[in-house]
Amino acid sequence: MTDKLAIETKDLTKNYGKVTVVDRLNFHVKENEVFGLLGPNGAGKTTTILMLLGLTEPASGMVRVFDFNSTREPLKVKRIVGYLPEEVGFYDNLTARENLRFIADLNNIAPSETERRIDEVLEMVGLTEERDMVTRKFSRGMKQRLGIADVFIKQPKLVILDEPTSGLDPSGINHLLDIIAGLPKMGITVLLSSHQLYQVQRVCQSVGILSKGKMVIEGSIDELGREAMAGGRFMIEVETAEPKAGLVDIIKKIEGVEKIEADGTILKISTDSDLRSQISKAVVDNDALLVQMKVHEFSLDDIYMKYFKEN
Ligand SMILES: Nc1ncnc2c1ncn2[C@@H]1O[C@H](COP(=O)(O)OP(=O)(O)O)[C@@H](O)[C@H]1O
Ligand SMILES: [Mg+2]
Repeated sequence: MTDKLAIETKDLTKNYGKVTVVDRLNFHVKENEVFGLLGPNGAGKTTTILMLLGLTEPASGMVRVFDFNSTREPLKVKRIVGYLPEEVGFYDNLTARENLRFIADLNNIAPSETERRIDEVLEMVGLTEERDMVTRKFSRGMKQRLGIADVFIKQPKLVILDEPTSGLDPSGINHLLDIIAGLPKMGITVLLSSHQLYQVQRVCQSVGILSKGKMVIEGSIDELGREAMAGGRFMIEVETAEPKAGLVDIIKKIEGVEKIEADGTILKISTDSDLRSQISKAVVDNDALLVQMKVHEFSLDDIYMKYFKEN
């Protein structure tokens, strides 16, 4: 991975009427990474993507894609970006190969290059055997894969995929995600939008979580764990028999304990690290009997839930 940026936004904002649907967005995507743009339906993902592509104008703020300003130089951006919209459309009566030929032609690819490139992209998405089938007979998963092939025909530096897994069954999702995961090695940067974090997190190096037009959190998956859980990254649940008075105060003094909630004989302790041994020592020192202890480390999925619950 390099430090060069494929996408950079500064206070990017879009209004529809009086409603601000994208609100001062700042995020960046590094070259050769898979970036997940995540958020529930209506969060502003598609609107953001349209601004990245120069297909709709921001009210204020700026977006750059590699060396170009998307708003001022949309054609230059279009040349280096492959875009798979939420709804992919093909000519139903044409075969996969014929559809790709049509796209190649639209993108001014030299006819001498076209057939070789079509074979290459069909192979890449696993549709070589279906190349002469009319797309009317394609399943949703096959159409999504053909959509990806279509995006690759022009050999983009960046691909933007808007909810590419929606409507696919689990095996279709896995197949598509495997293709996506392999792109950085081919020198292709990916921005992948999804409202299902759990599905896509395994292929993303970085994510940005969008809620009501605002980026609530952004960064590498490793950093996010630390930052998002500033209020406690681990939850340790302790059950004791007949706890003595003062146990809560003793545990509170352990370094790294952020919060304790007591509910009868059960204590729920939020901590910044795995403090099970310190906590069990405190329980024993208090002469209370430890019945059981459970530890739960927050995953990115919990972080996502936390943000969507609060926003
Ligand atoms: N062309 C439009 N005119 C008016 N409102 C729009 C338009 N496009 C999107 N919106 C609104 O903007 C918000 C963000 O939409 P969108 O970017 O499509 O979200 P997402 O892709 O995350 O589901 C939604 O409230 C949606 O209703
Ligand atoms: Mg959308």
